[in-house]
Amino acid sequence: MTQRFELNDLIRADNFIDGKWVAASSGKRFDVTDPATGKVIVQVADSGPADARAATDAAARALPAWRDTLAKDRAAVLHRWHALIVENADALGRLISLEQGKPLAEGRGEVMYGASYVAWFADEATRIYGDIIPQQARGKRMSAIKEPIGICAAITPWNFPLAMIARKIAPALAAGCTVVGKPAEDTPLTALALVMLAHEAGVPPGALNLISASRDNGVAAVADWLEDGRVRKITFTGSTPVGKYLAKESAGTLKKLSLELGGNAPFIVFDDADIESAVAGLMAAKFRNGGQTCVCPNRVYVQSSVYEKFADLLSKRVGALKVAPATDEQAQIGPMINARAVEKIERHVNDAIERGARALTGGKRLTDLGPNYYAPTVLADATPEMQLSCEETFGPVVPLFKFDDEAEAIRAANDTPFGLAAYFYSQNVKRIDRVSRALEAGIVGINEGAISSEAAPFGGVKESGYGREGSKYGLDDYLSIKYLCQGGLE
Ligand code: SIN
Repeated sequence: MTQRFELNDLIRADNFIDGKWVAASSGKRFDVTDPATGKVIVQVADSGPADARAATDAAARALPAWRDTLAKDRAAVLHRWHALIVENADALGRLISLEQGKPLAEGRGEVMYGASYVAWFADEATRIYGDIIPQQARGKRMSAIKEPIGICAAITPWNFPLAMIARKIAPALAAGCTVVGKPAEDTPLTALALVMLAHEAGVPPGALNLISASRDNGVAAVADWLEDGRVRKITFTGSTPVGKYLAKESAGTLKKLSLELGGNAPFIVFDDADIESAVAGLMAAKFRNGGQTCVCPNRVYVQSSVYEKFADLLSKRVGALKVAPATDEQAQIGPMINARAVEKIERHVNDAIERGARALTGGKRLTDLGPNYYAPTVLADATPEMQLSCEETFGPVVPLFKFDDEAEAIRAANDTPFGLAAYFYSQNVKRIDRVSRALEAGIVGINEGAISSEAAPFGGVKESGYGREGSKYGLDDYLSIKYLCQGGLE
C-alpha cells in the first residue's frame, strides 16, 4: 500500500541529511517564489560548505552498507519509490507547476516522465553484469566486474525539477552509489518532496542527501564537493559555462563527470517533408515547457520552396496557443522561470527585429498576465548574424531561416559549438540516411518531435557535454570496471 500526500505535506523547507530534516548550519534561508506572480511560496535552507560537507559525511557512512545491499533489494526500494511517485503524481505535478510555472498537464506529465526513469533503473539494478575474459594463459583467469563508483554529487536545473534529479538519483542508487545533491535555487521544492518519498520508500539514512542553496551560496557549497576526494562523480544538467567550471574545478580530484549541457538544436524541414506533420512535430518539440528545454529547437531551417507555406501554417498554430498561469487548466504556455529569462528572450527578439526579422506572431511581453510572460513568437527572415542563431533563447520563440539545398542546411545546422539534439523532416529514405549521419548531435529526431524516453540514451556531443542518461547505457556512468586477474590455478 502506498501513501498519498496532500500538496502541503510535500512542501519541505529544510535540508535532508542522514535521514533527517535539518536547517542550514548558518540558520539562513532564501525565498522560493511562484514565477506566475512573483509571490513567495516558502523560505528554504540556504546552505553553505558546512552543509555540503555534512551531506558528504553522511553519504560516506552509508556507502558500505548500500553498496553491499543485494541488487534485488536495491531494486525493490526503487520500485517502492516509483510507486510512491506515481501515487502522488497529482500533488507533485501541482508542486512543479507552482514553483516552475509549467502548465498543470505538463507538470503531471513530468512526474510520469521522471518516474519512468526510477522504474527503468530499478530493473537495470539487477542487470549489472561483468565478463569472464577468454583465457590468455594457462593457470590464469581474468574477469571484469562492475562496481559502484562511490559518492555521486547531483546538481540539477530548474526546467524539469523532478525528471532531471530522478534520472540522476535513480541510476546512482541502482548502481549502489550514495548521493549528495543540490537542486536549482529556483525550484528546490519538488526535489525535496522527491527525496521525502525516497525516504518513505526505504532508501536508508545517508544514502540520499539533498541541500538547497541560494545563487550566492550555492557555488561555495558545491565547491566543497568539487574539492572533496570522497565525492567520485559529478552529474550535472545545466549551462555549458557551469559545466566547464565543474570540469575544471573538480580536476584536482579527477572525478568522473556526466555533463548534460546547453543545446542550440536545429530543426530542418526539407521540401520533400510532410509539412503538416513537420509543423506538428515542431509545436511538440519547441513549446514543451514554454521553450525552456535543452532539446527545444532553437533554429528552424526551412527549404525555400516550402518556406511560405510552413511559416503560414506554423504562425496560425503558434498564435492560437493559450498563455496563462499553470492554475488555468487550459494553459499551454505558462510564465517563464524568472525576470532574467524574459529579459533574455526580449533581447534576442529585439536584436533579430533590428537586424531585419519579421514577427509573424507574438514578439512582445504579456505584462497583463504577470511579470514573467512572453508571447509565443514566430520570426521570419532569420539570419546567422542574429543572437538567437548562436545562443539558446530558452523561450517560446521560433526563428525561421531559409535554405536552398541539403548541403547548405547541414552546414548551417552544424555551425555551432553545441550538439545536443537535432531534428529533420523528409520523406526521402536516402536523404534520411545521409542527414542522420551528417548531423553533429547526440540525439536526432527524424520526422519526430518527441524524442525523450527513459529507454533511450540522452546526451550530447561537442560543448553539449558527455555521458548518457537513461537506457541501458545510463548505468555505466555510475559504475567503474574492476579487472580481476587470478593466477596459480594450475
Ligand atoms: C532538458 O531540458 O535538459 C531535458 C529534456 C528532456 O529530458 O527531454
